[in-house]
Amino acid sequence: MDNLHTFLRTRRSIRRFKTDRVPDSVLENILSTATFAPSAHNRQPWRFVVLTGPAAKMHLANSMAEEFKRDLEKDKLTDADIEKRVNKSREKITNAPVVIILCVDMSEMDNYPDERRRQAEYMIATQSAANAGMQLLLAAHAEGLGGVWVCSPVFAHEIVRDALNISKFWEPQAMFLIGYPLEIPEVRPRKPLEEVTVIFRDP
Ligand SMILES: Cc1cc2nc3c(=O)[nH]c(=O)nc-3n(C[C@H](O)[C@H](O)[C@H](O)COP(=O)(O)O)c2cc1C
Repeated sequence: MDNLHTFLRTRRSIRRFKTDRVPDSVLENILSTATFAPSAHNRQPWRFVVLTGPAAKMHLANSMAEEFKRDLEKDKLTDADIEKRVNKSREKITNAPVVIILCVDMSEMDNYPDERRRQAEYMIATQSAANAGMQLLLAAHAEGLGGVWVCSPVFAHEIVRDALNISKFWEPQAMFLIGYPLEIPEVRPRKPLEEVTVIFRDP
């Protein structure tokens, strides 16, 4: 068990990768392990879109860059700042050996007549998909790979879906950049447990 704790605590978000190819068998292994995550009603609403070739990654990066640029323009940044941030985000995608888009599919989830329960059902579907995302990162870690969770697809559902011609039932939720780590960063600070926990103990 100590080993599992050590394993979990040594996962890092990896943002710089070697150019080495990730073998298909390794990729399939980590995706399969991701599907062993728990999900609400065991409906498994996660869906994965995997990009390994430069053309698809470039097309996605360019499409997302356009949207990112439009968003940044609303934030009243200078043109130079916008250019810098847009280029950086484009390079993140094109430099990653593997890009995985995690989507949520609501079509097999329960349907409710009222908005409150529809929202709750959507939330448990996205929580379930997030579990698969976390499991994907841990499985990558187990293979000596590194990865980072990138949230930008949440801000650009339609753009990502259209760029990759994804089913209209698959809503992009996150992007994972995966590859062999170029460097292992220091652990990022964690809040003390007392700050994030309340324990009720019987007297
Ligand atoms: C929901 C979610 C969204 C994230 N979005 C981004 C992102 O857009 N870009 C990025 O570089 N890292 C992103 N991260 C990674 C976090 O920055 C990282 O997990 C955090 O700083 C702790 O570092 P660690 O993962 O190395 O422990 C995201 C992580 C989560 C869980």
